[in-house]
Amino acid sequence: MLTKPLGRLRLGVNIDHVATIRNARGGAAPDPVRAAKVAEAAGADGITAHLREDRRHIVDADIEAIIEAISIPLNFEMAATEEMQKIALRHRPHAVCIVPERREERTTEGGLEVAREENRLAHFIAPLREAGCRVSIFIAADRRQIEAAARIGAPVIELHTGAYCDYHAEGRFEERDAELARLRDMAAFGHSLGLEVHAGHGLTYETAAEVSVFPEVMELNIGHFLIGEAIFSGLDSAIRRMRDVMDRARREAFGAGAA
Ligand code: PXP
Repeated sequence: MLTKPLGRLRLGVNIDHVATIRNARGGAAPDPVRAAKVAEAAGADGITAHLREDRRHIVDADIEAIIEAISIPLNFEMAATEEMQKIALRHRPHAVCIVPERREERTTEGGLEVAREENRLAHFIAPLREAGCRVSIFIAADRRQIEAAARIGAPVIELHTGAYCDYHAEGRFEERDAELARLRDMAAFGHSLGLEVHAGHGLTYETAAEVSVFPEVMELNIGHFLIGEAIFSGLDSAIRRMRDVMDRARREAFGAGAA
């Protein structure tokens, strides 16, 4: 494992659930574009938004409006479908993150099965890469999936931290520690294959601090917890605190220059 971080840890703020609340009433408020602007002002390094097939939160017009409104990069999360590929190629966001998607799931429940669909995914991401999008693949911290992601030519992987966060929340500490160790080892493994490593899903102040000390991890994408915290402390304050938690964790692990 590296003894110093590869670089500054970026924070991507996922604003999907602002749209979830908006859509509950069918009107225009709260506005995810406003949330994206607040996130930018609070120090987010990017905005993440998932255009789901069923448009349950973010809708097509949001993507266009967010790109217009912000000057930090948009990380466009999408399923590997023809429809989404067309939308991505039209907008050419800075980053595209390919996620698995099932209509019946409440959130993205597992990582993408890259190993099983190598050929199809290699063809799917090629035009996105040619269009200049930084393509990342959302996968479990699993050696097979990481190797497959490298083989299909994805420059970035995002490791799914959901299981680790669930174990932590449920107080299943032995399983949590094992999952955290797996994430740490697989971050190092991904880096050894030349991949840029990100992490996300289910992260909170506590769990993000633990993941922030993996020196190979370059970006965390965090949504649900921050939008929930925003109810109590405001979005600006929740994001600033998360930024601080991440920076402090890196400083404590690697010294003053690390954050
Ligand atoms: N990263 C990816 C690839 C995701 O699909 C999601 C959820 O949309 C997140 C990060 C953020 O997860 P959460 O909302 O649980 O923080």
